Amino acid sequence: MKINGKTKVMGLIGHPVEHTLSPVIHNTIAECMGENMVYTAFPATEDTQAVLKGAFALGIQGMNVTVPYKSAVIPYLADIDNEAKIIGAVNTLVRTEDGFKGYNTDLKGLYRAITSEGIRLEKSRVIVIGAGGAARAAAFMCAFHGAESIVICNRTVEKAENIAREIQEKTQFGNIRAISIADWMSIKGEGYLVLQATKVGLYPDTEASPIEDEAFFEKAAVVYELIYTPQETKFMRLAKGKQIPAYNGLKMLLYQGVAAYEMWNRVQVPEEIVQKAYRALQEEL
Ligand code: ATR
Repeated sequence: MKINGKTKVMGLIGHPVEHTLSPVIHNTIAECMGENMVYTAFPATEDTQAVLKGAFALGIQGMNVTVPYKSAVIPYLADIDNEAKIIGAVNTLVRTEDGFKGYNTDLKGLYRAITSEGIRLEKSRVIVIGAGGAARAAAFMCAFHGAESIVICNRTVEKAENIAREIQEKTQFGNIRAISIADWMSIKGEGYLVLQATKVGLYPDTEASPIEDEAFFEKAAVVYELIYTPQETKFMRLAKGKQIPAYNGLKMLLYQGVAAYEMWNRVQVPEEIVQKAYRALQEEL
């Protein structure tokens, strides 16, 4: 890649950011598309307003935003996409005349990752495990895309209840309830799409699973795990042991990046280039 006076600089604002895989996605795509752009990481200070003002003043066209700025940036945006506004979290900034507009491509990325595996979200019954930021985004995504019902299971049941209430209030999606993860046996029937959105099983704690009992997987039709390190979690192994297909979260990461890239550069990334970025991600892990 040749860097010159016309090179566009994009990047990720967050703290910490040094382990991010986003540069792999964006720089691979930019190189394949012949776009004169580099993507890097900006370990930002806590003054969110100054960070956004500075990025705008420097002519930066697009940024990603991660922890701890996903909600903190909202008051300083010129505009915000409706979905990002409803869920109150932004991960992508696109430059406009007056400032940055905020989007949430984590949701779009998860939807595209799931559908790319041939999983249908519309009319599906969903179990979301977890009630942190990732689980919240996953549950909203299901409500936005016509799931039939959602059960949120979490160790701390109050947090699951808060998300369920928030979704009911903000989206009018009614068929949602919260339970303690220990009560998973109270979930009736089978054929569920299971979204694993806790941190349990994440490297280096790879021998942990949020649910250890194999009987749980009799309720599942398919498992989507949001973790991608390791590429196969214990939760996925337990699912596969019951002949349930299980996918990791690497494609969610990939597609949230693709969606951001497409907005920044006003292009559509062809599937073969998306696959190249996916292979680059796998090699990096
Ligand atoms: P993220 O932003 O990645 O979602 P988070 O907001 O810290 O991270 O949420 C972490 C999730 O993992 C929560 O659902 C948390 O459960 P609690 O709400 O009960 O804390 C879940 N989690 C973390 N460690 C866990 C453990 N050992 N057993 C069960 N759930 C766990």
